[in-house]
Amino acid sequence: MIPASVIEDLKFRNRIEDVVGSYVTLKRSGRNLLGLCPFHSEKTPSFSVNETNQFYHCFGCGEGGDVITFVMKTENLDYRGALEFLAKRAGITLPDDDNISQRGVGRQRVLEMNKCAARFFRDMLFDPEIGREGREYLMEKRGLSSAIVKRFGLGYAPNSFNMLRDHLQRNGFTREEMVEGYLCQVSKKNEKSIYDCFRNRVMFPIIDVTGNIIAFGGRVLDDSKPKYLNSADTPAFRKSKNLFALNYARNFSEDNLILCEGYMDVIALHAAGFQNAVATLGTAITPDQARLMKRYSDKVIISYDSDDAGRKAASRALGLLSEAGVDATVLKMSEAKDPDEFISKFGADKYRTLLSEGRSEFDFKIDGVREKYDFAVPEQKIKAAAALTREIAGYYSSVVREIYMAKAAKALELPLESIRNDVNRAMSKKRYEEKQKRRTDLVRDISGLSNKTNPDKAKNPKCTNLEEIVLGMMLSREEFLKRGCERLSSEDFYTSLNKRLFEFITAAYKEGGFDIGQLASEFGSDEISAAIKYKADRERMSVNTDSAFDESADNLKRECAMQKKKDEGGSDPLDTILRRRKEMKK
Ligand code: CTP
Ligand code: MN
Repeated sequence: MIPASVIEDLKFRNRIEDVVGSYVTLKRSGRNLLGLCPFHSEKTPSFSVNETNQFYHCFGCGEGGDVITFVMKTENLDYRGALEFLAKRAGITLPDDDNISQRGVGRQRVLEMNKCAARFFRDMLFDPEIGREGREYLMEKRGLSSAIVKRFGLGYAPNSFNMLRDHLQRNGFTREEMVEGYLCQVSKKNEKSIYDCFRNRVMFPIIDVTGNIIAFGGRVLDDSKPKYLNSADTPAFRKSKNLFALNYARNFSEDNLILCEGYMDVIALHAAGFQNAVATLGTAITPDQARLMKRYSDKVIISYDSDDAGRKAASRALGLLSEAGVDATVLKMSEAKDPDEFISKFGADKYRTLLSEGRSEFDFKIDGVREKYDFAVPEQKIKAAAALTREIAGYYSSVVREIYMAKAAKALELPLESIRNDVNRAMSKKRYEEKQKRRTDLVRDISGLSNKTNPDKAKNPKCTNLEEIVLGMMLSREEFLKRGCERLSSEDFYTSLNKRLFEFITAAYKEGGFDIGQLASEFGSDEISAAIKYKADRERMSVNTDSAFDESADNLKRECAMQKKKDEGGSDPLDTILRRRKEMKK
């Protein structure tokens, strides 16, 4: 872990108002700075930055954190990456200690090992004997030129349980590194022995935008299963935050990016001159990947497989990309199952034509409505119009609404004014519903019965409140941190989030100091927002004295012990909730 003192220094040199200010226009409003939230779309500013505490918080979407979590979110970086980003911004270098996994394996070592493995796989592919089958598959069967094989750094994992392992060992890598880096696995029969994960597969290195080899995908040469094997998450790799070939595509993304399902689709597209193609890494697209694409292009053309699964996945991707602020369209492809097959059947020019004919999200929607309703039947036309106006009312931009209203009017053969009236009505209804929903959410939240970040809260709101008081105080002043370490243990915490927070904070404190920025290495942004709220809640109070702390700590100990006894007695959790509810009403 990076020491607290270093993080403190980083934060001192990267004032949150300056960093946030380079993304968001901030205006002073009382003690805070206010701007439009970069994490959700809004018209009136609800994103506030507090210079004294060096925190941001959005009253609209609930997002909150410090300068480190802000950089993680906006730049799509992991914890270590965000620290590096801020260090670079401040013109300093971080100490060499890196993102160490629980088994003590660091990101830097995994990256070095991956580089060594990629060279090995490439050498095996071009080995006259060992690589023959791999070469036949890639070059003859799949028709790749040796130039494109080299450009993508493709390789071959020999049909052996130990060739890679022995090669890595000779190059000074340890068992732990091989296992944590997902290149080897521990044998089930003999815990002491490990063997290669990738065997008899053609290998696709996954490279991040800075050129690090962060993971591998491997494909079988025949029809055996699983067709593709991908690295699991490692200290150097989060599959939900990276895209295949983005390292190349980012340089060709001025007009748009093309999003495919498969590695082979991307490679075929690049080979045919479409160097702006990327793919997800064996999973459906995630919100992080959508935001990542938005960083490189405002427009994305989804070019998924033409089967049912592909169409469904495309519709999901459309939604996520639009949410990220990307103008996304879906390519309509027939007579080929995927872009790879399309190009080899019909050629690059035909594909280029398809690209220019992509359907927008709304065209996609109109087509769906057209299939469902017969516009010639008045009752059905009314339903179709209702579906489309409701859809249009959901768009935030009035320009977008204007364009879609014209399209809907044309498709339905109705006057634009009628569509506009209905859209306006749907918008007021929507606003009203949202307001109601916010109100019920608030009531739930206040009564402590629903909390996604700390779901255990419902089991014992009283315990949870005490935990939040104690943690809030520990987070706001070092003397309380010390006091908490002395007077409490993690056994005194009942809810899992707060227990984890307590364990993390006290461990860091004992290891040489705690800074709230360190939370980002282990906690999600919602969890960090919760912790920051505990802290902010306490800082608003004037009764932050030693005796107040001790009293809460003692009450927490007692309450938690009581609750645990009850749990052991096997009482129904629903009873507990109902009883708590009654207590609260009183
Ligand atoms: N995939 C995976 N695991 C599988 C099958 C697929 O991770 N068992 C992922 C891979 O990233 C693959 C993508 O899903 O590239 C698309 O799968 P599919 O359409 O089956 O593969 P293709 O790319 O068409 O593969 P190929 O052309 O090599 O058959
Ligand atoms: Mn394919």
